Amino acid sequence: MYQAPRGTADILPGEQGYWSYIRRQAEEICKLYGYQRIDTPTFEDSRLFERSIGEETDIVEKEMYSLKDRSGDDLTLRPEGTASICRSYIQHGMHSLPQPVRLYYFADIFRYERPQAGRYRQHHQFGVEALGEQDPALDAEVIDMAWQLYAGAGLRGLTLYLNSIGCTGCRPGYLNNLKSFYSDHREQLCADCKRRLEKNPLRLLDCKNPKCVPLTENAPHSADHLCTECSDHFAKLKTYLDILGLPVVLNHCLVRGLDYYNRTVFEIAPEGETASQVTIGGGGRYDNLIVQIGGRPTPAVGFATGIERLILNLEKQGVAVPTTPASDVYLVYMGDDAKHQAIRLAAILRKSKIAVSGTPGDRSLKAQMRQAGSIGARYVLIIGEDEVKASTVVLKNMARGEQKTIPQNSIIDELGINHV
Ligand code: HAM
Repeated sequence: MYQAPRGTADILPGEQGYWSYIRRQAEEICKLYGYQRIDTPTFEDSRLFERSIGEETDIVEKEMYSLKDRSGDDLTLRPEGTASICRSYIQHGMHSLPQPVRLYYFADIFRYERPQAGRYRQHHQFGVEALGEQDPALDAEVIDMAWQLYAGAGLRGLTLYLNSIGCTGCRPGYLNNLKSFYSDHREQLCADCKRRLEKNPLRLLDCKNPKCVPLTENAPHSADHLCTECSDHFAKLKTYLDILGLPVVLNHCLVRGLDYYNRTVFEIAPEGETASQVTIGGGGRYDNLIVQIGGRPTPAVGFATGIERLILNLEKQGVAVPTTPASDVYLVYMGDDAKHQAIRLAAILRKSKIAVSGTPGDRSLKAQMRQAGSIGARYVLIIGEDEVKASTVVLKNMARGEQKTIPQNSIIDELGINHV
């Protein structure tokens, strides 16, 4: 028996209600904030991800699905969405458009992680990227979008964690501080952190190993080592978030798992979860990424949310989503002549945008009625021998349990449905 590969999941028809609900909510938010849809390929040149996400990150070190294709090109299934958007921004000369360019995407994302609840090897993200502007008002806009998405979808008890990790100017000084702090406690560090101490000390703040967590509580804070410009940016951002009424929790351990960030980093955690463990979404500013992959200097900020995690939390909190029945009308027939009429009627109804289904296979009346009930059809049309002779149908309103015989040529008027 074949199974879906470990860490992947089928999204079955019964679960699609949540998915279309999230897609609708996200698209509505994007419309309200003026973001336009972009789609990029599922795979890219591996070097794009290596250069942007960072060679020292978990993603690049051990989680990428990389392959050599038949012409020897090194390709990687996208392990995140931002790098591809930046590549596309450069490739299509989007710097010549009015800035900022505001984009959003839905994308499947591939990471070779240890599968567990809410952690998959293929997951789906909704993300937004705003490119070409450094005003912290844009950071606030993106954070607000994330917050409104979750709140609008019905999630309660959200926490917004925020930090500033400085820029290429002030971060080296902070990193030196951080290195010397951790070096003094080297023996207490886990093996990964010992290794990362020299090359990527920021990562140590993010370590979940119980050996490292207590140490990190006393580690120096990046927000205390910002240059004037970064400090000003952070202060303004906090003011704008305050104007928007978003409750901010400053978290000096928040550094995110990708190396391209500078200044603003943020994550949103649902009720009962702490930041960086089961976050539903996160993002930040990445002013150097476009230069790093060959474009001109372009400040940018964005965020992404894991759709599976969002749905998991909606389910956990018992948030019901609106469902639509698979069909408005179910056609039930008895006998060959009735079957011919049912096939003809279904085609006519669909031309009028009425959603119709039925059960082929010449089953009993009872079996067909049971099926109509189980898919939640609003109306059932029954055609038997008598109806064939008289060119009529029996129309049954399933919610009311009432039925009446009507001429076939008045079905559309009787149903009063004019959409699928
Ligand atoms: P990220 O934090 O790596 O950021 O991923 C964004 C979200 O995707 C996470 O908050 C989480 O909800 C979800 N996610 C990540 N990994 C998994 C997984 N293995 N299974 C299920 N869900 C997962 C980024 O990817 C950045 N590109 C976000 C960004 C956009 N920054 C700026 N612009």
